[in-house]
Amino acid sequence: MKSDTPAEHLSVSEPEHRRSIKSFVLRQGHMTAAQQRAIDENWARLGLDYRAEAVDLNRVFGRDAPKVLEIGFGMGTATAEIARRLPDYDFLAADVHGPGVGNLCKLLAEQDLHNVRVMRHDAVEIVENMLPDNSLHGIHIFFPDPWHKKRHHKRRLIQTPFVAKLLPKLHSGGYIHLATDWEEYALQMLEVLSGFAELKNTAADFAPVPAYRPETKFEMRGKRLGHGVWDLVFTKL
Ligand SMILES: C[S@@+](CC[C@H](N)C(=O)[O-])C[C@H]1O[C@@H](n2cnc3c(N)ncnc32)[C@H](O)[C@@H]1O
Repeated sequence: MKSDTPAEHLSVSEPEHRRSIKSFVLRQGHMTAAQQRAIDENWARLGLDYRAEAVDLNRVFGRDAPKVLEIGFGMGTATAEIARRLPDYDFLAADVHGPGVGNLCKLLAEQDLHNVRVMRHDAVEIVENMLPDNSLHGIHIFFPDPWHKKRHHKRRLIQTPFVAKLLPKLHSGGYIHLATDWEEYALQMLEVLSGFAELKNTAADFAPVPAYRPETKFEMRGKRLGHGVWDLVFTKL
């Protein structure tokens, strides 16, 4: 029998594959004056505002070059360094953390780097609503929050439903590169990526760190705590 009580409506949950991951808790964090200034002075050039409609990335970057999406760049130090090492690639870098957004804008302005656009928005929504299919050559997700506690595992980005949303954005021959300092998450990543028939592992299991990836801030912290590091690089067939 149908009922229209609000409580019953609430109890009807969305199917698992349609529910988006909430992978972060917004921390306030302190934005330094220099970080704020870097945003104020450079956002028109370096920033890209979220819009729930497909974007033409070649227009955004002003050239036809391979595009790489980075999800969760943190303070952006590795992002800027990779952009410097790979000038022929364009990087769309997304994070929700304000001070990190300011820091990356500052690094890009200081180093006169033109091949990065910064987004301050939930990358899950960017992927779902803004990126056209086949528009990416690569996806970088370095040291995503491991959400150690079992009851928080549902917040992890690397789960089958989200990867299923990511893969159509990659063109054939493109790659996805993940890294983590949390072994049990590394094994989850390996299992999730290995479950997609259209992905091929570039290594037997974990990959050597590719030459373009410098140590990230979060990685340094993990190493200080005695953690290992696991990289995974899969290509799309
Ligand atoms: C553990 S930190 C790692 C930062 C950096 N990659 C590093 O290795 O130093 C994870 C980052 O992912 C960001 N993040 C988590 N979920 C996100 C999402 N859905 N969209 C964008 N950024 C996200 C967090 O704000 C945080 O800065």
